[in-house]
Amino acid sequence: MNSPAENSLDRVLVLEMVRVTEAAAVAASKLIGRGDEKAADAAAVEAMRKAFDTLYMDGTVVIGEGERDEAPMLFIGEKVGGAPGKGPKIDIALDPLEGTTITAKAGPNSLAVLAAAEEGCLLNAPDVYMDKLAVGPGYPEGIIDLAKSPTENVKAVAEAKGVEPGDIIVCVLDRPRHADLIAELRSLGCGVVLIGDGDVAGVIAVTDEETTIDMYMGQGGAPEGVLAAAALRCVGGQFNGRLVFRNDDEKARAAKWGITDLDRIYTRDDLVKGDCIFAATGVTSGSLLEGVKYLRGGKMTTESVVMRASSGTVRWIKGEHRTK
Ligand code: FBP
Repeated sequence: MNSPAENSLDRVLVLEMVRVTEAAAVAASKLIGRGDEKAADAAAVEAMRKAFDTLYMDGTVVIGEGERDEAPMLFIGEKVGGAPGKGPKIDIALDPLEGTTITAKAGPNSLAVLAAAEEGCLLNAPDVYMDKLAVGPGYPEGIIDLAKSPTENVKAVAEAKGVEPGDIIVCVLDRPRHADLIAELRSLGCGVVLIGDGDVAGVIAVTDEETTIDMYMGQGGAPEGVLAAAALRCVGGQFNGRLVFRNDDEKARAAKWGITDLDRIYTRDDLVKGDCIFAATGVTSGSLLEGVKYLRGGKMTTESVVMRASSGTVRWIKGEHRTK
């Protein structure tokens, strides 16, 4: 076990991270089903920003709401935490509301989520798309490879699992850009679980046999890719990600963060190094967590998960709170 002196992600901070995702989830939950994505996101951002300041750390947002000129709060490079210059130096990747549309429409699987690691351990991913490929724990290292076709990857996982390719269940974001991928998977006989949004939860679903999902495939946000990789680093599972650049502006964003090899395939441990914490609280209920629920008598409940890579401990935390 690491002592706080050896590792700046000391154990108190691990549990405290849940307060931060809880605060964001509760704030966003007031906007569930209200049809206003922006208001839900803004509420989560503001609450998360405030909650960070209660933590004894010298934090820096490395994946946030956007660049300084795009986001008023929780922008990339913003300092967060109540002990600037004194507390442990922590890099933070965050998404105060992962699934803004889901929340606005009261769909499943929206989360308030963050990952924290020691300084320099999280990839500064530009806000572009990422090709993602993930599989749960228990497979030989290197079983998945983004350089190979979806068919080759499904066959490799099926063989290792001891089933037919058609028995493999793959989660994919339901987008027109995935039409060919979905057709290829269906031609193999695979079950394709289409999700409307929320690929952090989609990727994490591969780690839980209860979901029956074996693999995750397809393009989603790169920041969400780093968050999902952090969760897999804590609980196991393999991840490959490759940034997707649609124009020169997006390439310039990559250059700004020092990314020169635009075709690089990142493994889970290229995206997140060293020790890390992943914390999430459900906004709406889904495969990972129950959402915020308002009960009679002025009470509400939350469900959160917090994991740590170095110990492999996963804690599920149910909170009961007063609404006022
Ligand atoms: P937001 O919460 O920012 O709306 O993101 C939701 C999401 O579904 C992510 O989970 C995913 O990575 C990304 O959007 C996919 O982007 P797009 O909607 O452009 O396909």
